[in-house]
Formats: sequence, structure tokens, C-alpha cells
Amino acid sequence: MNIDGKPYRTIWLNRDGTSVEIIDQTKLPHRFETVTLRTLDDAARAISTMQVRGAPLIGATAAYGVALALRGDASDEALDHACEVLAATRPTAINLRWALDEMQKAVRNQPRDKRVAAAFARAAAICEEDVETNRRIGEHGLGIIRAHAEKKGGATVNILTHCNAGWLACVDWGTALAPIYRAHDEGIKVHVWVDETRPRNQGASLTAWELGHHGVPHTVIADNTGGHLMQHGLVDLVIVGADRVTAQGDVCNKIGTYLKALAAHDNKVPFYVALPSPTIDFTVSDGLAEIPIEQRAPGEVANMTGKTRDGRIETVQIVPDGSPVANYAFDVTPARLVTGLITERGVIAADRAALAQTFPERAEVRPKSNRKVS
Ligand code: MRU
Repeated sequence: MNIDGKPYRTIWLNRDGTSVEIIDQTKLPHRFETVTLRTLDDAARAISTMQVRGAPLIGATAAYGVALALRGDASDEALDHACEVLAATRPTAINLRWALDEMQKAVRNQPRDKRVAAAFARAAAICEEDVETNRRIGEHGLGIIRAHAEKKGGATVNILTHCNAGWLACVDWGTALAPIYRAHDEGIKVHVWVDETRPRNQGASLTAWELGHHGVPHTVIADNTGGHLMQHGLVDLVIVGADRVTAQGDVCNKIGTYLKALAAHDNKVPFYVALPSPTIDFTVSDGLAEIPIEQRAPGEVANMTGKTRDGRIETVQIVPDGSPVANYAFDVTPARLVTGLITERGVIAADRAALAQTFPERAEVRPKSNRKVS
């Protein structure tokens, strides 16, 4: 995507061929800064402090993290250690584990002197695949938005989104925002309701920033506004991203997604989830019972960071001294509340049969407990 006319991705290999550059998302929207990753620890820190975030980008960063680790030591032990360290950074988004498995497959059987090159090559390929996958998600989702625009006789299509599932959450394009960018570029009138997405405000800080740079009309709303808007016919459809989708179509995404799905269901507003196939975890079925929900530091809820009138970035405390705080980062939306999954292979039902039929090569990898024992 473009920032002030210059094309960017969220992560790229530097010209030296040995270090990796990321956009520091903790500084947005007020400052655009990049950070250089040179070591495994740099990559792990970037993920856990959320300099990079969003399921696909976490996976891409972890892949480069493995490559950076192997530069210092290409042994089996170093490979396993790197994967362990990176896997522990954030537990919910399954793309992280998927990317680490891919790196193991690409590197493990290589002779040691070829491992670094193989690792950098696979990390770069994961990034390219993410871009192409999201471009296709944009194509398929475009059909949905176009249909709404036609139904409304060309009037503006109002889309509500939660968190940031745009290009900042991926390598490029985004998942939930990819169809919106495509529709806007095609001249379809779209307007996006952007949930602020407390506690870290990915909507207010990142989605609004992205959409603004692309010229997409949008309005930032407080998190609890969506239900009211839906009751008044001001939302035509909801599109969100996902951090993990189970074999039966349950969707784990940023905390608050479930409440939007309930409101959408009650108001008969279509609720779509856009996701690349690495976000599907065929080893789990019941999202509520089986997906680990990341709990983050209380400070993310207790404090707010923003720009002062004179341009300084400051953090202030918004809860009383001593009040206990809980910070659940994700929730699970049951498949029954999901109108459809927008994937790189088309828009499909959020159910076991559709997922298995659309991604048979992934569905084969099921937990032993799900297999028939003869
Ligand atoms: O905690 P984050 O910012 O990593 O959470 C991101 C989300 O929940 C996104 O909606 C999800 O990763 C989809 S990204 C294409």
C-alpha cells in the first residue's frame, strides 16, 4: 500500500540481506518509524510488544525471526530454540505456529551450510504468499460489497469493522480491509465504521490511519456504538478478520468481536469474517473450549497513550490507583453467528464441511482424537 505516495509493505528484507525492517506499529498513528530486526530476540520482542501485530504479520515476522536466529547458529538445537521462543510470544493467532512449522519443514532437512539461505528464502516466500492470498480475499470480498451496492442502487455501502485487519496486520492488502480497498478503487461508494478497539485502539490508531491514507471515507466510533448503528439501519454489513478459525468455523478474533456478531445477528446484518487459510486451525473444533485466549498486561487497560495539544506523545492512567484490571485480548464468535468466511478460495459457509472441502490439504491434518479408530 502507499504511504504519502510511497509503496510500503509492513516487513521487508534490507539490502544487506541479513536484517529485516518493520514498521513500528506502536508509534502509529502519530509517528511513522521503522525498526531493524537483527536477531531472534529482536523479532520475538517486536511480536510480544506488538511493534508488529495482526495474525498474518506475526507469522511473517516469526518466519524471519527463525532465519535471523540461524545466522548465529544453524544447528538443530538453535532451530528448535528459535521456534520455542517465537511460539511463546503470542498464544492465540495460529498463523504464528503455522509459520514456524513451515520454517521447520524448509530448514530441518537442509545441510547446515544451506540452512540460513533456505530460511530466508522460505520467510520471503511466506510474505509473498500472504500478499497474493490477501489480494484474492479482496477479489472475493469485492463481490459481496458490489452486491450490496447494487441492492442499494449505488448508494454508499456502510461497513463496520473491528480492530485492524488491514494491510498493517498482514504483509500487504489486509484481510477484512482488502475487499474495502478493492471496492473503493473500483469506484463503489463505501464508508467504514471503525471500532476504536480498546484497550490498544487498533481501530482508532491503525485502521483509521490506513483508510485515511488510502482515501477511504470512514468514521471512528466508540466500541459500544455498533449495536445502536445496526438498530438504526446504518450498517449494511460487518467484515472482521480472525486470529484463528476452528475446523467447525468458530472464529477467534480481537476482544469485542463476539458482541458485534450478536448485535449483527439480532439486526439481520450480514457478519463476514475474512481470513487467509493459515488462520484455520484444523486441530481444534470448539473454539470456546480449545483456543487459548491471550491475557495481556493490565497497563494496556489502565492507561491510554495519545498526542497532547503541543504534539508530545504521553501516557496517562485512566483507572483509580489500585483498581484491579483484566485484559483479555481475544474472544470467540461461534460459527452460527457468522454469515460467511471470505477466503482466498472464495466465500464459504462457516462450517466443517465447507472448510474441509475448500482446504482439503489442510483438513487432513486433524488431531488423533478426531480420527476414526477402527
Ligand atoms: O492483538 P492484535 O492487534 O494482533 O489482534 C489483531 C486482530 O485481532 C485482527 O483482527 C486479526 O489478527 C486479523 S488480522 C488480518
